[in-house]
Amino acid sequence: MILVIDNTKDLRTWINFNKKKDATIGFVPTMGSLHEGHITLTQKSKKQNTFTIVSIFVNPTQFNHKQDLIKYPRTLGADLEMLKPTGVDIVFAPSVFEIYPKGNHYGADINLGGLDKYMEGAFRPGHFKGVAQVVKRLLEIVTPDRLYMGQKDFQQFTIINYMLKNLKINTKLIVCPIIRESNGLAMSSRNVRLSPETKEKASVIYKTLKAVKKYQHTKSITELCQYGIKKLSVKPFKPEYLTIVDGHTLHPITDINNSTYAVACLAVWADDVRLIDNIILKNEI
Ligand code: PAJ
Repeated sequence: MILVIDNTKDLRTWINFNKKKDATIGFVPTMGSLHEGHITLTQKSKKQNTFTIVSIFVNPTQFNHKQDLIKYPRTLGADLEMLKPTGVDIVFAPSVFEIYPKGNHYGADINLGGLDKYMEGAFRPGHFKGVAQVVKRLLEIVTPDRLYMGQKDFQQFTIINYMLKNLKINTKLIVCPIIRESNGLAMSSRNVRLSPETKEKASVIYKTLKAVKKYQHTKSITELCQYGIKKLSVKPFKPEYLTIVDGHTLHPITDINNSTYAVACLAVWADDVRLIDNIILKNEI
């Protein structure tokens, strides 16, 4: 049975009581509206830890458009049903006040090493400050041994990994692969806002990323990006960016041959829904 806890005090009491000597805690932070992508994170955590805690919290500080926050799907009942078979131990579903008792701005100023300047950060000012703020707060509450995040949000996990190291937080980040719909569209809580036709047509996103990967040795980076943007510019899609970056620094790169870790990242509007995706082109680490 899943225990649903909505306050820090009860969660700490449970952890202090249950976490005996060698027990480990795996933590999966989410904003709810769960799908198979989230479930794979919980499964990985279940395999690697004594206890698994999932948080469901729609974090207001990471939304740079009020409308996006308002429109964000909230489906706690369905989320709990979906989590039941996974055998996770606790769902932590706190209120905004529980997370930010001193106000939303408290604890937002975290050094992100400039990694928040590119891609998503450039188009969504303040977004990663909000993500880092809430993840840090949640880590302080949950004190997990392992933190599970998806490759789907490449810049997000890179930034959180930087924060863990920089703040010497004793939690290991485990990154899990992108789970996709049968047509290749990366699963996302925002996909429910796509019409069935748009969802079908959105197969072009992964097709584009796979084509970029295929042509990485025959086209220059500029050509690859132009090619990708053109391929994505089909109704109702409007690409916002397609960039090839170094997987550590997130700096755009100019030559894949000189890089050991190259990733193509993109954001595309599908009507009024913003989708992101990425593909690792090269990882020699
Ligand atoms: P959310 O979008 O709910 O995602 C929670 C976690 O699920 C993230 O680590 C994300 O990368 C992962 N995820 C989402 N879609 C996935 C997919 N298709 N395949 C694999 N993993 C996937 O990301 C957030 O919430 C928030 O920013 C959060 C970290 C919870 C902070 O508020």
